[in-house]
Amino acid sequence: MQALVDDYGSPLYVLDLDRVRENHRRVEVAFPDAEIMYAVKANAVRGVLAAVHEAGAGLECASAGEVKRSLEAGAPGADVHYTAVNPPARDLDWIVDAWADHPDLTITAGAEDTIDRLADRGYDGRLCLRVNTGIGAGHHEKVETGAEPKFGVPIERAVEVLSDAAGRGIDVVGIHAHVGSGVSSDQLEAHRKFVSRMGDLARDVNRELDGDGLEFVDVGGGFGVPYHEDEEPLDLEAVAEATREAIGGIDAALTIEPGRYLVADAGVLLTEVNTVKDARETTAVGVDAGMTTLIRPAMYGSYHPIRNLTADTAPAESAAAPARGTTPQTISGPICESSDVFCADRELPKSERGDVLAIGNAGAYGYEMATQYNSRPRPASIVLDGDAARLSRRRETFDDVTRLEPDAHGAGDATARTNRESDNDHEER
Ligand code: LLP
Repeated sequence: MQALVDDYGSPLYVLDLDRVRENHRRVEVAFPDAEIMYAVKANAVRGVLAAVHEAGAGLECASAGEVKRSLEAGAPGADVHYTAVNPPARDLDWIVDAWADHPDLTITAGAEDTIDRLADRGYDGRLCLRVNTGIGAGHHEKVETGAEPKFGVPIERAVEVLSDAAGRGIDVVGIHAHVGSGVSSDQLEAHRKFVSRMGDLARDVNRELDGDGLEFVDVGGGFGVPYHEDEEPLDLEAVAEATREAIGGIDAALTIEPGRYLVADAGVLLTEVNTVKDARETTAVGVDAGMTTLIRPAMYGSYHPIRNLTADTAPAESAAAPARGTTPQTISGPICESSDVFCADRELPKSERGDVLAIGNAGAYGYEMATQYNSRPRPASIVLDGDAARLSRRRETFDDVTRLEPDAHGAGDATARTNRESDNDHEER
């Protein structure tokens, strides 16, 4: 692992595709009859999209950019769902254009406005309706979506909205809801309630709507993974059982959208120690990754396991090389904010300058949420596939940081496109 830093530099995201495939398999075993739509937002790198698609999963996308990536990774339109949340006009323009070439793609709308805006663009393809069940769950209040007014049409209005869409000639195929992200076993009751509301709605829709009835009931993703060493893994079988109980008797397929579960524990972030100092009550350790590289600790207070790979692989203790021992350490990055902290006072092997640390469970929402704040180039990422390692995103350069500024490079790299110009030439609506 440390050798990868010699080859690709630091900080470096590393993702093991075999582990992603195993995680996919685990979901398949627990949900043998469900259609698995991988939530691309968790990790959108092409190697992951291709691997999960090859393993049999479809791709659930949160933006036109993700749909573009998914189609480019080789998924046919029939395996792509676009979940539109307050979709910008340029997303709808792009998607409706793409739909002309991929008529089997599915759009999930979460507001009547979205359906109107699609109809205005001539869309009468496959439509799924996202509903708001009033039930949320998840690892942090910032990721509990199920009851947030932003997401979905209130469930009590769903039949009416779907009948109206069907009456306008739109191909109504599914209903959808997502309770939140990082749901743990102790939130099973919320999950049970949530899926049973979806089951009731599916029955109502199938009864009320003329036509063939629903093709699928999509209960979203959100399966949690243990981040802390002491945490129990999610009882996926129990989640599956609760879901089957609620949806089982319905004449429609079950769809699920796991993101984190497939990729979180397949990824680590490697980062090099550059500063070690005694800071009164703790040892302050500085590394070259920061909240711009992995924002989860700063944003959600998330715990990520950390290992010192250099100390772990040091030759066994001897008179010449005594063991390092451990000490409480506060590990932070190079960003000028006090929230730029990966852990506080955590007991770890004493760090030395040049050590390589591995921040674990970084495969989901790691690189995807990375930014260039403080004008920091984003890191490189690689995938491991069997014995092979390959670059999946090159490290950004300082020039990449200023590339979009027309006056930063003279006429050079700056494009002549204006802000108003969209990806295709439709009017903004
Ligand atoms: N489906 C929909 C409609 C979603 O909005 C999401 C996640 C998923 C599926 C996948 O959820 P998962 O299985 O990955 O939990 N940045 C946060 C997570 C935000 C999740 C947003 N939506 C984090 O780092 O914890």
